[in-house]
Amino acid sequence: MLSQRTKQIEESATLAMAQKARQLIEQGIDVISLTLGEPDFPTPKHVKQAAIQAIEAGLSDHYTNATGIMPLKQAIIDFHQTFDDVSYSVKDVVVGTGAKHILYVLFQTIIEKGDDVLIPTPYWVSYSEQVRLAGGQCLFVKTTIDTDYKVSVKQLDEAYTSNTKALILNSPTNPTGSVYSKEELQEIGEWAVKHNVLIIADEIYYRLVYGNTQSICIASLSERIQQNTVIINGLAKSFAMTGWRVGYALSKREDIIYGMSQIISHETSNLTAVSQYAALEALSGTQQVVEEMRRAFEQRLNIFYDKIKTIPGFELAKPKGAFYLFPNIKNTLELTGYTSVNKFVEDLLEEAHVAVVSGDAFGDDECIRMSYAGDIERLLEAASRIRAFVEEKISQRES
Ligand SMILES: Cc1ncc(COP(=O)(O)O)c(C=O)c1O
Repeated sequence: MLSQRTKQIEESATLAMAQKARQLIEQGIDVISLTLGEPDFPTPKHVKQAAIQAIEAGLSDHYTNATGIMPLKQAIIDFHQTFDDVSYSVKDVVVGTGAKHILYVLFQTIIEKGDDVLIPTPYWVSYSEQVRLAGGQCLFVKTTIDTDYKVSVKQLDEAYTSNTKALILNSPTNPTGSVYSKEELQEIGEWAVKHNVLIIADEIYYRLVYGNTQSICIASLSERIQQNTVIINGLAKSFAMTGWRVGYALSKREDIIYGMSQIISHETSNLTAVSQYAALEALSGTQQVVEEMRRAFEQRLNIFYDKIKTIPGFELAKPKGAFYLFPNIKNTLELTGYTSVNKFVEDLLEEAHVAVVSGDAFGDDECIRMSYAGDIERLLEAASRIRAFVEEKISQRES
């Protein structure tokens, strides 16, 4: 019964692992889940209040423009003008049901059977499945800890084929927390322009950078690069609004924006109206809570990273953005006698009751991903459970 298209899709590993953890929790087991990339903060109060007011004023009762209400589009433009010094107009904006949906619509809009899409690995799990669903092929470009998990122009050159249509560039990166510098983005941007490869810049973690790291919007670097880029962003991560499902694309490419609007109009009609009013307030209202949450994530990173980096065999650089640690545990496997990360992850859940996601799903089978978006006490508890688990396995092996 199922289509080939559906059969080729792999389950989302993060959601699957989160589900396993939930099942154990329902059985009364004290599981700490580090699986989902979801802030534990509530949506800011003023945002919820704006949504309630919109409902009471009857603004959420009807369909809206397929690609979003005008005030929201204007707020998105103003926001990026302020933070990135980059200019767009309302015709360059498409609002959809989360960045995930916007990416899906974008791939459906631009990809034809046989098109190649460059994806630096490790990568966010949905890119590959969405590209395949659209009939495209993924050209994975492997990055390692030695280059801070960042792709170089030389690597892109080597991977490039005459069918290459787009490059997905995610900075700050899920799962590694790497952030590309202005110079790196400039070089990649120029390379893409030269080869007529569309840049899909997923900047969903844009506001979540730490220390003296700066997020750079690639479209701000030159007019040529802006013309050749689709910016993907959303409110889920920085504004603690995962449940509201607000995502958007910004691009000067009229054909792409038009195509995306057509698809959205047949697919969802529009993002739920009340979410649009909430997003309007989030982007145009005070940014104080957003900054407070960013600082809290930074504090969690500092504390959690210090605990995790000394676990025997764990190798990781300190992330500069997003809210994940992605340690390479190849040496831990050797020390403990495990032959695969998947088995290690399974036993960690069963025995130590800590749920993490195997790096397999992100294109790197030597790593695990741990989200530090949750409560600090639970993070500390998770770190000590993981350490005890590893030390116990090592001592079992030695005895
Ligand atoms: C890199 C990246 N892009 C996009 C998304 C999707 O975000 P949204 O919740 O807006 O669909 C996520 C969510 O985990 C992500 O990590």
